[in-house]
Amino acid sequence: MRLINAALLFLLLILSCNALGLKPRLLGRHTVQTNSQHPSVSYQTFYFDQQIDHFGFLENGTFKQRYLLNDRHWHKEGGPILFYTGNEGDITWFCNNTGFMWDVAEELGALLVFAEHRYYGESMPFGEESYSNAKYLNYLTSEQALADFAVLIKALKRALPGAQKSSVIAIGGSYGGMLAAWLRMKYPSEVVGALAASAPIWQFIVPCGEFYKVVTNDFAISGTNCSSNIRRSWAAIDRVSATGEGLQWLSQEFGLCNPLKTADEVYGFKAWLQETWVNLAMVDYPYEANFLQPLPAWPVKVVCKNLDFNTGVSDKQLLSGISQAVRVYYNYTGDAVCLNTSQTATGNLGFLGWFYQSCTEMVMPMCTDGVADMFEPQPWNYQAFSDECYNQFGVRPREDWAEIVYGGRNISAHSNIIFSNGNLDPWMSGGVTRSLSESLVAIMIDGGAHHLDLRYNSEFDPESVLKTRALEVQYFKEWIKQAATTQ
Ligand SMILES: *[C@@H]1O[C@H](CO)[C@@H](O)[C@H](O)[C@H]1NC(C)=O
Ligand SMILES: *[C@@H]1O[C@H](CO)[C@@H](O)[C@H](O)[C@H]1NC(C)=O
Ligand SMILES: *[C@@H]1O[C@H](CO)[C@@H](O)[C@H](O)[C@H]1NC(C)=O
Ligand SMILES: *[C@@H]1O[C@H](CO)[C@@H](O)[C@H](O)[C@H]1NC(C)=O
Ligand SMILES: *[C@@H]1O[C@H](CO)[C@@H](O)[C@H](O)[C@H]1NC(C)=O
Ligand SMILES: *[C@@H]1O[C@H](CO)[C@@H](O)[C@H](O)[C@H]1NC(C)=O
Repeated sequence: MRLINAALLFLLLILSCNALGLKPRLLGRHTVQTNSQHPSVSYQTFYFDQQIDHFGFLENGTFKQRYLLNDRHWHKEGGPILFYTGNEGDITWFCNNTGFMWDVAEELGALLVFAEHRYYGESMPFGEESYSNAKYLNYLTSEQALADFAVLIKALKRALPGAQKSSVIAIGGSYGGMLAAWLRMKYPSEVVGALAASAPIWQFIVPCGEFYKVVTNDFAISGTNCSSNIRRSWAAIDRVSATGEGLQWLSQEFGLCNPLKTADEVYGFKAWLQETWVNLAMVDYPYEANFLQPLPAWPVKVVCKNLDFNTGVSDKQLLSGISQAVRVYYNYTGDAVCLNTSQTATGNLGFLGWFYQSCTEMVMPMCTDGVADMFEPQPWNYQAFSDECYNQFGVRPREDWAEIVYGGRNISAHSNIIFSNGNLDPWMSGGVTRSLSESLVAIMIDGGAHHLDLRYNSEFDPESVLKTRALEVQYFKEWIKQAATTQ
C-alpha cells in the first residue's frame, strides 16, 4: 500500500499546486483577501486531430486533443506564444490556475495556449475505452505527449494568421515543467525556450531519501520539536493500537469516519498521515488558499503550533497533538464531520493515468530511514514496485529509460531553459537547483513551495518570488530577441 502511495505522490502534487488560488469563500469561518485585480480567465476551446502513435506506422488512428486559446493581448506579427505543456489532469484546471501566464500576457503581447496531455481531461485516444486495457494504454507516454505538443505548435503557426513570426515559449509546472524542459530539448526548432517550474527532471536518479528529507526540514524549521514529535508518533501509534481499547481511543481521538479494527487498517492510517504531511509541505504557501483542502497561510507553521510540546510526553498526549495538527489540513473550514483515511485530496484528476506513467517510464524511487527524515523506515523496493505495476496494469517499469531518453545529469548541450524551484518544495530534491550554463539557469525561490512562481501575483508573495517572476519575463524577452535576430 505504501508503494502505491509513493507512486501517487506526484499526482497529488499536481492536484495541490494547480488548484484554485485565492478564492473568496463565502461560507465557512475564514475570510480571504480577494483577488479581484487578477486578469480574468477566458478562453476558446479547440480540438486538434493528433496521431495516436507518432513513432510507428501500424496504428494510424487519430484522436481529438483539446487545447485552449486566449489572444486578447496578442500582438500579431511577432508577439510571442506562451504554450502551457499540460500535465496529468484537466487542462482547464491548469489554465485557470497558472496565474503567471495571465499576469504577463499583456506586457509580452502574448498569445496564450494551453494544450491538454493525452489520456487526461477530454483528450482520450480511445474515448471511454482508453483506460480499459494495456493495449489502449500503450500510447500514454511523455514522448508521445511531447510529440503532440510539437505537432500542435507547428500546426498553430501555420494556421493562425500572424503566428509565423511568433516565438513559442514552453511553460509548465511540476510534471508539466518537466515536459516544458524536455520539449525545448527534443524539439528546439519549435520552442525558443522553456520555463520549467518545480520540475523534478532528476527525480529518477537522485538518492531515494532526498524527497522526504525536504518534507522533514519544512516541519523542522516551522516549529519547536515539530519534526521530532512527528517522528515519535509512528511508534506511539503502534503501542496504542496494540490493544482493542487503544484502537478505539485512536479512532475517536482522530474523529475517523471508519474506526480502525485491523493491523492493516493501522498501516493504512499511518500511510494517510504520511501523505498528509507531504501534501502540507508541498502547499506551504504564504497566503490562505484552497488546494487539496482549504488551508491557512503558512499551513505547516499552523500545524506545528499543535506539536511544540516536550518530546517526553505520553503516547496519548503526543497523538492527541497529532490529531489536532491533521485537523488543520482536513478541517480548516470547520465543515468536516469526520476524517476519512481513504482521502488526502479532493477530486481525483488523472489518478490512474499518473500511476500508469510511474509504472512504465516515470519511475521515481522514494524511501525513508527515520533518521534523516521523520518517517518510518521504508526502503525503496524496486521489485515490489514492479510487481504492483504488473498486477495493476500487466506491464513492468523500465527503470533506466527516463535517464536515457532525457539525458540524466548531463544536459549541458541544451539551452534556454529556466529551472525554478522553491526551497520548501519537496520536489526540489529532484530539480535542477544550480545553473548548468549561461542559458540553463536555475532559480531558487526562498520561502517558495511547489511552483509558487506560476501562481497569480499576490500581496502576500515574498520578495523572492516577485523577483523570480520578473527575471523569468526578462529571459523570455531575451529569447524572443535572440530568435528574431537569428531568423
Ligand atoms: C489505416 O490502417 C487501416 C488498416 O490497418 C487501413 O485500412 C487504412 O487504409 C489506413 N489508413 C490510412 C490513412 O493510412
Ligand atoms: C476554468 O474556468 C472556466 C471559466 O471560468 C470554467 O468554465 C471551468 O469550469 C474551470 N475549470 C475548472 C476545472 O475549474
Ligand atoms: C522540546 O523537547 C525537549 C525535550 O526533548 C524539551 O527540553 C524542550 O523544552 C521542548 N521544547 C518546547 C518548546 O517545549
Ligand atoms: C471540525 O471543526 C468543527 C468546528 O470547530 C467541529 O465542530 C467539528 O467537530 C470538527 N470535525 C472534526 C472531524 O474534527
Ligand atoms: C471516504 O473516501 C472514499 C474515497 O474517496 C469514499 O469512497 C468514501 O465514501 C468516503 N467515506 C466517507 C465515510 O465519507
Ligand atoms: C557533458 O556532455 C558534454 C557534451 O554534451 C561533454 O563535453 C561533457 O564532458 C559532459 N560532462 C560530464 C560531466 O559528463
